[in-house]
Amino acid sequence: MDYMAETFLLSFFLSVLRLSVAFSRAQMVPAAFVFGDSLVDVGNNNYLPVSIALADFPHNGIDFPTKKPTGRFCNGKNAADFLAEKLGLPSSPPYLSLSKKKAAASYMNGVSFASGGAGIFNGTDQTLGQSIPFSEQVDDYIAVQKILVQQMGSSATEKHLSKSLFVIVIGSNDIFDYFGSSDLQKKNTPQQFVDLMANTLKGQLKRLYESGARKFVLTGIGAIGCVPAERVKNKTHECSEETNFWSVKYNEGLQAMLKGLGSELHGIYYSYFDTYSIMQNAIRNPSSYGFNEVQSACCGLGELKAEVPCLPVSKYCSNRSDHVFWDLYHPTEATARVFVDTLFDGPSQYCVPMNVRQLISA
Ligand SMILES: *[C@@H]1O[C@H](CO)[C@@H](O)[C@H](O)[C@H]1NC(C)=O
Ligand SMILES: *[C@@H]1O[C@H](CO)[C@@H](O)[C@H](O)[C@H]1NC(C)=O
Ligand SMILES: *[C@@H]1O[C@H](CO)[C@@H](O)[C@H](O)[C@H]1NC(C)=O
Repeated sequence: MDYMAETFLLSFFLSVLRLSVAFSRAQMVPAAFVFGDSLVDVGNNNYLPVSIALADFPHNGIDFPTKKPTGRFCNGKNAADFLAEKLGLPSSPPYLSLSKKKAAASYMNGVSFASGGAGIFNGTDQTLGQSIPFSEQVDDYIAVQKILVQQMGSSATEKHLSKSLFVIVIGSNDIFDYFGSSDLQKKNTPQQFVDLMANTLKGQLKRLYESGARKFVLTGIGAIGCVPAERVKNKTHECSEETNFWSVKYNEGLQAMLKGLGSELHGIYYSYFDTYSIMQNAIRNPSSYGFNEVQSACCGLGELKAEVPCLPVSKYCSNRSDHVFWDLYHPTEATARVFVDTLFDGPSQYCVPMNVRQLISA
């Protein structure tokens, strides 16, 4: 297809899109670009030839609109889906489902680069091809940005991207990797390690900024010492205090890093979400969020349904909306909804220095 025809098709596609959006829900931003791990993966790993970090089998997806597994590590929609709904956008499609076409039209409302198992560092998972590490997700975004510039021109692209959201949910796997690896522990103290995480992330955020990103949504690490996979290691099913402690330490470093970045880079805005606190609140006051079960996974086998992951042979709970955790690591759709409701409209206790609604109008 020649350039003119493609440009015509693109503008035609865009006007149809605007019309259809005008008739449905008001679109709040031009696009959402999503980066991160299994908490927001919408199916990229399904396209990795050798990955075993997959969720494209039952019972994942039993509460998804199609009732089918999609690659989401969840019973239904995940946080990326709920955020897209709030924004009046379709869920950003997996990059690897679009990359053959390399057409700007398919990237217009955003793309998801997120990959289950991903971390800030190139962990062992990632070097073995199990998932797409964060630095590579940023490379993929830069490739998309170049295609947008080619087809829309640089000033239209700049405008489009400056109003778009860059959503980043990453870091949990780095913490799990560290406490699971004596090599990593020999190389760095936990404080050095979490500092290095924040610093490495900073470098990648700068690359995104250089390629047009201005509005960032960054989530801190949750209370991951309380996931069923961690609780099951403790006789009395307590949360891992060590994992929680260093997650908080990382979150502190992340916030300090963001503050610094805010004064270094002109025109940058961000919303930091305190996933840790909201998760602790839900675990300590389950009834105020409609939860009954905060320790056991819904889908899995063995103690706390956390000794065997959520596989087709595993059992699953009948009421998914009263469980905080879907499987040994991941929240249920119900929990994801609580997170996104809070991140979007929540108070400054959880959203620093602003929530996502405020970020959009900043
Ligand atoms: C990960 O690997 C890529 C490609 O080899 C490299 O460019 C990048 O710097 C590495 N990132 C980290 C954090 O080690
Ligand atoms: C279980 O957790 C509690 C509270 O963190 C801790 O005091 C205890 O040592 C843990 N037990 C084991 C076996 O790790
Ligand atoms: C599931 O749990 C929720 C929250 O506790 C409750 O409101 C709902 O009635 C339960 N649904 C069923 C089918 O038991």
